[in-house]
Amino acid sequence: MKIFLETYGCQMNSYDSELVCSILAKANYALVPKEEEADVVLLNTCAIREHAHQKVYNRIHEIKRAHKRGQGPGTRDQKPLIGILGCMATNLRTDLLENRRLDIDFIAGPDSYKRLPALIEQAMQTEIRDTRYEIRKPFDVTLSEFETYSDVYPRRERGVNAWLAVMRGCNNFCTFCVVPYTRGRERSRSVENVVEETRRLAGEGFKQVTLLGQNVNSYFCEGADFADLLDAVSGVEAIERIRFTSPHPKDFQDKLLTVVARNPKVCKHIHLPLQSGSNRILELMDRTYTREEFLGLAAKVRRLIPGVALSTDVIVGFCSETDADFEATLDVMEQVGFDSAFTFKYSQRKGTIAERKYKDDVPEAIKTERIVRLNELQKEISLKKNRAHIGQTLEILLENKGSKHSPDVLYGRADGNQLVTLDEGGHTLGDLLQVRIIDASPNILKGVLKGVAIS
Ligand code: SAH
Ligand code: SF4
Ligand code: F3S
Repeated sequence: MKIFLETYGCQMNSYDSELVCSILAKANYALVPKEEEADVVLLNTCAIREHAHQKVYNRIHEIKRAHKRGQGPGTRDQKPLIGILGCMATNLRTDLLENRRLDIDFIAGPDSYKRLPALIEQAMQTEIRDTRYEIRKPFDVTLSEFETYSDVYPRRERGVNAWLAVMRGCNNFCTFCVVPYTRGRERSRSVENVVEETRRLAGEGFKQVTLLGQNVNSYFCEGADFADLLDAVSGVEAIERIRFTSPHPKDFQDKLLTVVARNPKVCKHIHLPLQSGSNRILELMDRTYTREEFLGLAAKVRRLIPGVALSTDVIVGFCSETDADFEATLDVMEQVGFDSAFTFKYSQRKGTIAERKYKDDVPEAIKTERIVRLNELQKEISLKKNRAHIGQTLEILLENKGSKHSPDVLYGRADGNQLVTLDEGGHTLGDLLQVRIIDASPNILKGVLKGVAIS
């Protein structure tokens, strides 16, 4: 059986796909790089916004059409098995299983990947035994309080950065968010186990690890908190840089900020998801901080970690958001001056507290108007922040090479996560380069190797 796996959503899903590859390889399934070669197509899905759902639904239909034309996965007499993994599996189980038009074959939620070989096996048998629609499709979407996959070593492609999940799940229940329902309660892996995996990564040539969790800084295991974990991981010699995502503002104690400030391997970049700048909306979202507390935290982060880069997530058009609420968000964005921001239009999710308690009453046109304004403001701020680096020398970790236009162009990231490009051949991915910044746009810095004269 040949398997093709496609991944949607966040870095945690990318990491989970690496776990899935490892689990399937152990069970002697062959993973193939092209869907046309596959008998089984796995879609590791995301449920965070409606758009994410729609992409997967469209994809399922596309796979079926390609198969009918004789160009897709499966063989002429055998249609491909389609399995849905990830956050949509838990969130939309009933719809996925009962929707005749989709007609997928099996489902596995984020805590059920060890059972995948068995589920595929079962789906194959059901296929052979009974091709009528009424068959019972194999699924497992049980959420576990314990599963951390700490005994599975992910199958990664070689590279510069490795994802490493240190905790899973979320206990926060922000009212707009589906994640606590799709991924269950928080649980953390032991420090020793994470350090052990980091050592192996270093041995394989990775230069950077990005520690992952839905709420990564609430990591806690056997008396060790996230600050302790960062220090322990930084003890692994060949690892040059450590990043982490996504943190929650409520879990930035001084101890953690001090470790980020003092530990040279921990990148000076903090993601501080704001979501809204209006106290009334923050309360409705149940984010547990006020705008004043958020502004205080941003100021403290800047004080304790000089030169730190800040990024954020913002939602516009949450239930009952008025123009004044939105202006309050713009105001906080201006006051903090984030280096970059991810912005989203509120998308009502099934089963969330907001869906049950509030009305998704901001018209789509207003959501669009607000996100356009927010993006315009952020673009100006990002440009200003980026231009401030012109003339500075930044240390760049080389992550990519070559573009459509030039084989020599290099891409790397500065410590603060800014994307930097330079026209230089000859270096190896994973190299740390001293780069003088000569130009900037809102999304990218341009540099030259230090010591090179600018003509
Ligand atoms: N656990 C992380 C990230 C969760 S998802 C955190 O707490 O920061 C990433 C971002 O998607 C969120 O920060 C939020 O800005 C956005 N998001 C989550 N649910 C959403 C929804 N229902 N509609 C629009 N954006 C949403
Ligand atoms: Fe969702 Fe909030 Fe948990 Fe982040 S902290 S995953 S936004 S519930
Ligand atoms: Fe999406 Fe699940 Fe990640 S909903 S953003 S894949 S945690």
